[in-house]
Amino acid sequence: MRYPEELIEEVRMQNDIVNVISGYVRLTRKGSSYFGLCPFHNEKSPSFSVSPGKQMYYCFGCGAGGNVFTFLMEYESFTFVEAVKNLAQRAGIALPELEYSREEQLKADKKSVIMEMNKLAANYFYKQLQSANGVRAKQYFLERGLSEKTIKHFGLGFSNIYSDDLYQYLRQKGYKDNGLLKESGLVREDKKHGVLTDAFWNRVMFPIMDINNRVIGFGGRVMGEGQPKYLNTNETLVFDKSRNLYGLNFARTAREDYILVCEGYMDVIAMQQAGFTNAVASLGTAFTSGHARLLGRYVKEVILVYDSDGAGTKAALRAIPILREAGIRTRVLNMEPYKDPDEFIKNLGADKFRERIVQAQNSFLFEVQVLEKEYQMEDPESRNSFYKAVAAKLLVFREELERETYLETIAKLYHIEAKQLRSLVTSVSLTMSGETPVNKPKSGIQKKTKKEDGRLYSQRLLLTWLIEDPALFDKIVPYIQAEDFTEGCYRTVAHMLYEQWEKKELNPARIISRFAGEEEQKEVAALFNTELKEITTKEEKEKALSETVYKIKENSIRYASEHLDPTDLEGLQRIVNGRKELQNLRRLHIFLD
Ligand code: UTP
Ligand code: MN
Repeated sequence: MRYPEELIEEVRMQNDIVNVISGYVRLTRKGSSYFGLCPFHNEKSPSFSVSPGKQMYYCFGCGAGGNVFTFLMEYESFTFVEAVKNLAQRAGIALPELEYSREEQLKADKKSVIMEMNKLAANYFYKQLQSANGVRAKQYFLERGLSEKTIKHFGLGFSNIYSDDLYQYLRQKGYKDNGLLKESGLVREDKKHGVLTDAFWNRVMFPIMDINNRVIGFGGRVMGEGQPKYLNTNETLVFDKSRNLYGLNFARTAREDYILVCEGYMDVIAMQQAGFTNAVASLGTAFTSGHARLLGRYVKEVILVYDSDGAGTKAALRAIPILREAGIRTRVLNMEPYKDPDEFIKNLGADKFRERIVQAQNSFLFEVQVLEKEYQMEDPESRNSFYKAVAAKLLVFREELERETYLETIAKLYHIEAKQLRSLVTSVSLTMSGETPVNKPKSGIQKKTKKEDGRLYSQRLLLTWLIEDPALFDKIVPYIQAEDFTEGCYRTVAHMLYEQWEKKELNPARIISRFAGEEEQKEVAALFNTELKEITTKEEKEKALSETVYKIKENSIRYASEHLDPTDLEGLQRIVNGRKELQNLRRLHIFLD
């Protein structure tokens, strides 16, 4: 299923990365690297770097990165094999035909086969919509105010009235494996009649794309009334609802530094059609931390545009802490008197919507405002309980200054003395003793992740240093071997890098090609592009290097003892020796030439 590694490497070497990426991004030379505006996220100053030496690119803003293959996979939505083919052609290299064994196709390539089926299905639905079969569906979209251009842009479609239309079509296209057809989520088994039928029929269709514009699933809506209103593809190998957002493929390159998060397909489409191309929706599922992390790759601020009914408010209240935890600033847009952005824009237009964006309310104040509705503010006792609840809420802010700012705003809003509210906060925090101590991190878990991050950071740092300055290898190898890298991917990469060094063939971009998925490739690229702290003098560098070596060794020994098989005496001896060695490393000073 893969080309021989030598051939892949040949193709990579014949396609200089600066040359290839220049065809897509305007690059300017800065020192030993080239910089440009990142094509994978919206930015105003360039943090996208391309290194001719490493033959890699890396964005310090959003973390996109890899070698020349990764770039085409990300930019053109190619699979690895497609990227190799494309670049081979560019360089005039002939490739042999790939042979798939059936087993391989089923296993390693299942995902891409499902993607292929999805792509075919999307095309099929689209064609149906444009054909005589789709007249009523087309009418439906037009009546809901979508333009032909919008329909095309989102690839909207129609699933025919026959219950196995798509199934027959896919079979005719050569997809005859019923098991796989079912796994794609496009086809279902009708157990009663013992036949396979389409998952969607007689519905208008919304293809769901991942950030690289690949179709991963569908939503289908009944035209008019009917239950369920929307059907969505079940989870499949390629469709994970908690990690994808509808519309993000467009929103991530919108020229705004915030993203609008709403509830539905039609809302995203209506907003994007009205010019708000930074709109996305979580797909009929609750907002997850996976969604928040995904958004955090592109923006620091989110505006929630949830329905203005009880369910929408509830959904907003659930999403706010998740976004807060992910470090994303959040505001809430008020759509009154309309239910959702689709209706709002249809009735009041884009300009009024833009005004509401500007007026969107700070998420904490929104939470407090919702809370207030639970109390009778005319009743003194109830009002006091409300203040207490607000005081408890203020404790979510762990930084004193931040908490104080909110405290003052709230005090002003409710015409109470800041001083009184402050003492209420203190007393509430005492009664909640231990649980959420003021000024301290919420739980030990966070501390641990920070420490873990530190360990991984040292390992990444050393990998980056080693490829930026291969002369360091001679100084490092006596202390740190590939086994000292603990994280799975780090260790694999370290092994490959040390092996290359032994053969005197350092070539990090080649290492990247050995990972087939772009997510993996991106991860590896990040290992070679760790952001370096400001180090100016030789002495500073020597100190940093020595400390890093110590940290990695210390972590390696800790890791080994945690994973030691009690019957492994040799392993135990190694750990004992390692600890002795570590004592000496405390005084280590690596001298640079
Ligand atoms: P809504 O019921 O608010 O629908 O559901 P809507 O977006 O306003 O749809 P239109 O305007 O009537 O066409 C919001 C979202 O919840 C999911 C869908 O993703 C929908 O867009 N949903 C809703 C389902 O998955 N299934 C349903 O039956 C209903
Ligand atoms: Mn709607």
